[in-house]
Amino acid sequence: MRKWCFGLGLAVSAAAAAAQGQVNVICSVQAEWCNMISTVYARTTGTRVNVTMKGSGEALAQLIAEKENPKTDVWFGGTGDPHLQAAEQGLTLEYRSPTLPQLHAWAQQQAKQSNWRTVGIYSGPLGFGYNPELLAKKKLPVPRTWADLLKPEYKGEVQVANPASSGTAYTMIATLVQLMGEEKAFDYLKGLHRNVGSYPRSGTAPIKAVARGETALSISFVHDGPGEKMQGFPVETVTPADGTGAEIGSMSLVKGARNLEAAKKFYEWALSPAAQEMAAAAKSFQLPSNKSAKVDERVPDFRKIRFVDYDYAKYGASAERRRLIARWEKEVNSQPR
Ligand code: F6P
Repeated sequence: MRKWCFGLGLAVSAAAAAAQGQVNVICSVQAEWCNMISTVYARTTGTRVNVTMKGSGEALAQLIAEKENPKTDVWFGGTGDPHLQAAEQGLTLEYRSPTLPQLHAWAQQQAKQSNWRTVGIYSGPLGFGYNPELLAKKKLPVPRTWADLLKPEYKGEVQVANPASSGTAYTMIATLVQLMGEEKAFDYLKGLHRNVGSYPRSGTAPIKAVARGETALSISFVHDGPGEKMQGFPVETVTPADGTGAEIGSMSLVKGARNLEAAKKFYEWALSPAAQEMAAAAKSFQLPSNKSAKVDERVPDFRKIRFVDYDYAKYGASAERRRLIARWEKEVNSQPR
């Protein structure tokens, strides 16, 4: 009997899926959140969500590669800068959501400066992750400022992702340039390079390594800390006292999307409070862009953080992003450690 019911359920949902079609999504947030939105959306609408997970820089590279024959309908999440770059390169579609007035000003601003080709879905500050147990064992202090990370005693203990693939790491470069000026920022990055143990591809890899005791420190979005802690790992976060940047995690519709109507419905759903509240349920603690979405108590308190006045338009411009990453490759990553 149970088996029969299950079979029937499958048959019904398969029919519903056939009726409601499918949507192909590149998802640039954490796997648990990607899985939750695709499962819940499919269950409630009958539309199948085919998810590919990619970091922000890699997602942009895929859209460029698919330009003539797009296979993706929606790009969900990831830092805002490469979404702006995709908009500038005409890879994404102009779409003015009727939900825009329900969003925070920063999310609407992201839409406006892309000529309505992307929109903010969340925001989160950049900071440091640290493993308090490992720091105590090695008798190392908690870093409080960007300058602290250059201390020789942290040699090999810092992880940050590679900016070519990771939006988190690009946000770090853009933040430092805005905080210090470009020359000083590159001197800083060269100094930091001596303390970096490795530059993984994904922006969330460093804080996972910290949580698992593989390295003591990371440069990470601080909203990625609580999810690790909830799994029982020893990890804390801090934002630099001398100022930091924040991402505007974004979402875009792909130009030439094969499933455009289904994509627009998914996009609208993703802007709703109920969908945005799913982030916290999936242990992701960014600030939601819909003003009516509940804010979990583990979401970083922006009022307590010192921010640089981040110029999203400038650092989301293709030429600027490409130039800064190339400079980092040439002057920093190619150097011995
Ligand atoms: O929680 C995942 C997250 O930190 C997002 O907030 C962010 O947009 C994304 O990862 C960036 O990932 P990556 O640095 O790999 O592009």
